[in-house]
Amino acid sequence: MPKVTVVDPLGEVQHEFEVESGTKLLKALIDHEVDIVHTCGGNAECSTCRVTIHKGVPTKKTQAQQDLFDKLVKSGQPQFDHPAAFLSCQVVVEEDMTVGVREPFNSILHDSVGKDTEDRITPDPEWLDHEVPDWWGTE
Ligand code: FES
Repeated sequence: MPKVTVVDPLGEVQHEFEVESGTKLLKALIDHEVDIVHTCGGNAECSTCRVTIHKGVPTKKTQAQQDLFDKLVKSGQPQFDHPAAFLSCQVVVEEDMTVGVREPFNSILHDSVGKDTEDRITPDPEWLDHEVPDWWGTE
């Protein structure tokens, strides 16, 4: 079973757990009590569930994620044009992965952690190839 490692901004390990291959990353994080906001319930509409994937970057991404990231980059948020930026609600865990959560819950910014999310990727995914440059690495 693939292992998910969650690190803080300094690279310190906060959580480590195994999941069934094919598990939606956001669902795995929630089920293992990782502090992550998911306002839209996993529908690629809000970006609060975004993660940086340090190792095990997927070689595919959803069209829904790409559409949201394109919109965010156009609105002046270039951090979404990064090969390791993903929406955890749009990622399927198929191999070991190290991730950093970008938006933990903060009661000043958030009313709640967000709506419940389904086990499956929503909306129905249309998969695009995702290129990971050598300088970032995929191990
Ligand atoms: S984009 Fe809203 S929860 Fe993932």
